[in-house]
Amino acid sequence: MEVLGIDIGGTGIKGAPVHIETGELTAERHRILTPQPATPESVLQAAGELIKHFNWNGPIGCGFPAVVKNGVMQTAANVDASWIGADAVATLKKLTGKPAVFLNDADAAGLAELRFGAGKGRNGLIAIVTLGTGIGTAFFVDGTLIPNTELGHIELRGKDAERRAAESVRIRKNLTWKKWAKGVNEYFQRLEALLWPDLIIVGGGGSKNFDKFAPYLSLKTEIVPAQLLNEAGIVGAALAAVPATPARRRAASSARATQSKTK
Ligand code: BGC
Repeated sequence: MEVLGIDIGGTGIKGAPVHIETGELTAERHRILTPQPATPESVLQAAGELIKHFNWNGPIGCGFPAVVKNGVMQTAANVDASWIGADAVATLKKLTGKPAVFLNDADAAGLAELRFGAGKGRNGLIAIVTLGTGIGTAFFVDGTLIPNTELGHIELRGKDAERRAAESVRIRKNLTWKKWAKGVNEYFQRLEALLWPDLIIVGGGGSKNFDKFAPYLSLKTEIVPAQLLNEAGIVGAALAAVPATPARRRAASSARATQSKTK
């Protein structure tokens, strides 16, 4: 089964159809610049262009960098404040006529990593932490997501953690890997002390450069880079649009078995 996955971010809106049993993109991903000001109407209009680009009539899942409750945005840390209280599902339906499922972007990345990436087959408490413009978190207990955790906003020495350890801080302040890793290490140590995860998966832009800062981390928890890199948000958004029924799980494991035989 194919689902259109859309990953809405502050700078770009990316999407592609995803084969949800294998996690593979079935067409080349398409990216549109996020319109500015990034109001709900303008951004969802752009998402509509993406839907049109793929001439899509099937299910749609969208990841968005905010707390999402029943399709309604509750926060706006790195997006236009007019998103707070916006009903994304109703607005997209009004603009495009299409129904879609919306979820937090880090939750989407986490779903993808757990099903197809660095968290595959792992149990216990798994934290996916995306280091990008902000810090996004997703927590899974034995494969079940606790949605909308916002642990990128815990306080670190009087400051919002994402203002100390997001990837955007390294870029904006032109920090060396070592210097930036100091803040990242402090952040992960705090997460460890509060939640004691069994595995931390680093996603977002931070996953691409994991080898550059990992040597400076000193943690008790196993920490690994995400495997789906910038596709995780798209794949996970697609997964969220279709509930994982037992029949679908069986289809997914047989699709993977066939895949590994043919590789
Ligand atoms: C937002 C989260 C989001 C994260 C990553 C944070 O600023 O509060 O909802 O998941 O950025 O985009």
